[in-house]
Amino acid sequence: MLAEAALYLDDPDFRRNALVESLANPKNTYSRQRLDAYALKTQGWDLLPEWNPQSVPATTAMAGELRAHRPLALDPATPRLWDGKRPTTMAGWVALGREVFFGYPLRVEIFMNWALEHPDVGERVGVKPAADGTYPGVRLFSDVRGRTALGITCAICHASVDDRGHVVVGDARRAFDYGALRLAYHADTLVPVDPDLARRMKTWGPGRADVTEDDDEDPVAIPDLWGLRHQSALTQAGTIKHAGPTVLAIRQETQLLHSNHQKIRPPRELAYALALFLYSLEPEARAVASASETKLVPRGEELFAAECKACHSNAALGGPPIPAERVGTDRALAFGGARGTGKYRPPALVRVSAAAPYFHHGAVPTLEDVLSPARLEPTYARSPLGKGAVAGHAFGTDLPAPDRAALVAYLRSL
Ligand code: HEC
Ligand code: HEC
Repeated sequence: MLAEAALYLDDPDFRRNALVESLANPKNTYSRQRLDAYALKTQGWDLLPEWNPQSVPATTAMAGELRAHRPLALDPATPRLWDGKRPTTMAGWVALGREVFFGYPLRVEIFMNWALEHPDVGERVGVKPAADGTYPGVRLFSDVRGRTALGITCAICHASVDDRGHVVVGDARRAFDYGALRLAYHADTLVPVDPDLARRMKTWGPGRADVTEDDDEDPVAIPDLWGLRHQSALTQAGTIKHAGPTVLAIRQETQLLHSNHQKIRPPRELAYALALFLYSLEPEARAVASASETKLVPRGEELFAAECKACHSNAALGGPPIPAERVGTDRALAFGGARGTGKYRPPALVRVSAAAPYFHHGAVPTLEDVLSPARLEPTYARSPLGKGAVAGHAFGTDLPAPDRAALVAYLRSL
């Protein structure tokens, strides 16, 4: 991985090849935007200025300033995020990647001013401070034009903050309700919002967002980032063939420059560092199961090998993408214009017990319900997305109840 760094960083032809090879469906918007602009040397995104931002964590003290209607100021002596030195060790790359994950702004986000100024709104939508008084995922920074603003980073969606203010990096922030935050802002400020967008944002709910820029309605659940290095495809629709760190670095490089409205690009060292940091993420220790549940685990593991492992096949129990018809869940994301490939990728099942609600659309509230035949009936009323059957992924639902209980016990042990 360290040797690949030099190729990615210094050789545009290597980057271009890696990009072209990685796109599962060259025709979707995601692919076309990248094919049109990435690693072209004399045109496109290679010509963008590199941006190494000044950025500090947003804090409860800043929230107080906002409530007092005082402007937030960034000390002009704030060092840049990166000292400009290319790391030489894995530990050095991972440490730099962590800085990027928490500190590199994706864009100015006026809604975060609103969340910090109104702690009740912030708390309700999952934007809250950690025990150290910082808001993970929210930064005060000097934007591309030198204006001071609050912005969001990876950590707003991909790190959780529990009731004691403890931060779990890589855990999806399932309390984050981006749609509700934006709607609260528009309701309170009377700044107009497109009614169609408002209707859509209401349907997102916590832990889901529509991260594409198309007109399709395909909000997806924020995924945990465990076991990424074992996945041969990235994103829930398997948009990217994942051969190694260069591919993930390209994803992150293009995400950062795209979300910053293609005005700048991150130094590539930061994208590579982010990739190695993501590979390093591990979940925290799991709660100890009851003795009666532990007894069921071996039987569950046997059943999993027979019923599930054909698809959930790699070391993280994810696997290569499967045609969406075969999986049978809601088709919108798999066939969406933005990232669609006609497939869904089996997600990693690391800490799957803590990953509810399930499937790419977050439609099923418990593991019991994933395996329950009742979920497939029109009378099903437990989905967070509303009453009615949640179709698809019927694997295991035809097993006798004791077998399903054993499978659930096994899944909880992961
Ligand atoms: C607004 C919330 C949000 C932010 C901010 C965000 N992500 Fe994500 N991320 C998502 C969602 C939703 C998905 C699922 C997309 C899909 O599967 O199509 C995702 C998917 C991913 C994946 C693919 C995971 C997999 O299982 O294949 C990676 C890697 C990732 N994000 C990393 C990052 C990094 C690094 C950043 C910061 C540069 C970031 N994300 C910022 C919401 C977010
Ligand atoms: C034919 C391939 C295939 C088989 C067989 C299969 N799965 Fe899956 N699994 C998938 C795919 C693809 C997804 C993602 C579907 C989606 O999000 O729409 C998935 C998703 C899941 C999820 C949701 C995880 C999350 O974080 O949302 C769980 C849990 C799961 N599978 C468990 C099982 C179990 C248990 C079995 C065996 C009884 C099984 N799977 C058999 C392909 C398969």
